Amino acid sequence: MAKIVGGVTTSHIPAIGNAIAKELFEDPYWKPFFDGYPAVREWLDQVKPDVAIVVYNDHGLNFFLDKMPTFSVGAAFEYTNKDEGWGLQPLPPYEGDPELSWHLIESLVADEFDICSCQEMAVDHGFTVPMSLLWPDRSKMTVKTIPVAVNTVQHPLPSPARCFKLGQAIGRAVESYGKDKKVVVLGTGGLSHQLDGERAGFINKEFDLMCLEKIVDEPEALARYSIHDLVRLAGAQGAELILWLIMRGALGEKVSKVHSNYHIPISNTGAGLLVLESA
Ligand code: DHB
Ligand code: FE
Repeated sequence: MAKIVGGVTTSHIPAIGNAIAKELFEDPYWKPFFDGYPAVREWLDQVKPDVAIVVYNDHGLNFFLDKMPTFSVGAAFEYTNKDEGWGLQPLPPYEGDPELSWHLIESLVADEFDICSCQEMAVDHGFTVPMSLLWPDRSKMTVKTIPVAVNTVQHPLPSPARCFKLGQAIGRAVESYGKDKKVVVLGTGGLSHQLDGERAGFINKEFDLMCLEKIVDEPEALARYSIHDLVRLAGAQGAELILWLIMRGALGEKVSKVHSNYHIPISNTGAGLLVLESA
């Protein structure tokens, strides 16, 4: 039977992709951020997941404002990235697991989540930057991927409560898959940030640290916020916290914290990192 072994949440800022390309790991600005990641990679080496379900938001590469599905699941053999204008290097395609994707899609629709299935899907920095942080050596990367894209760009956005329930439905879907697969769920983006408008540069450290704590044992407390609460407390793009809630919902009731890190600012963002293991 398939099993969710744990979850990782991480920032996905494009500047991280450029810092990786320039190998700025020891640079004083970047070091406190990159120093959070070896522990995550050690954990991944131990648990050896077969598949990563990557919950992220597309920022305009695959979906644009004219067509913006709320929840989308990839069902492709492979996923490519494209030049988004951030100066990020093109990367080799990521291998998919279409059989598990279709199981996920069928199970989610049966569970009353009317998601958009995507047999072609370009993946942007929300997907590629976390993958580069967690699996830096592509020649050794064996994990297959299933992108789950969530609208955090064009309002109305799905509520935190709805996202938490989607995560729970993803958890049920994986558990009902008959093949032996170890699955890790990534929630990418966050924590607080606002990229535009009068509050550009807004970061709320207190709120971020509260989220890092509550998401472990009291995720329902975070799921009670409205989207407008999140925008007020965490900034317009801080609403990406809903992606973390999907990851947390998928892990089931009891989890243990393996590792966390928090550093501000990285670019315009409170960069939070968390590794949770399923009970
Ligand atoms: C930044 C953060 C994001 O979440 C994003 O998608 C793009 C840029 C930033 O802080 O620069
Ligand atoms: Fe983002």
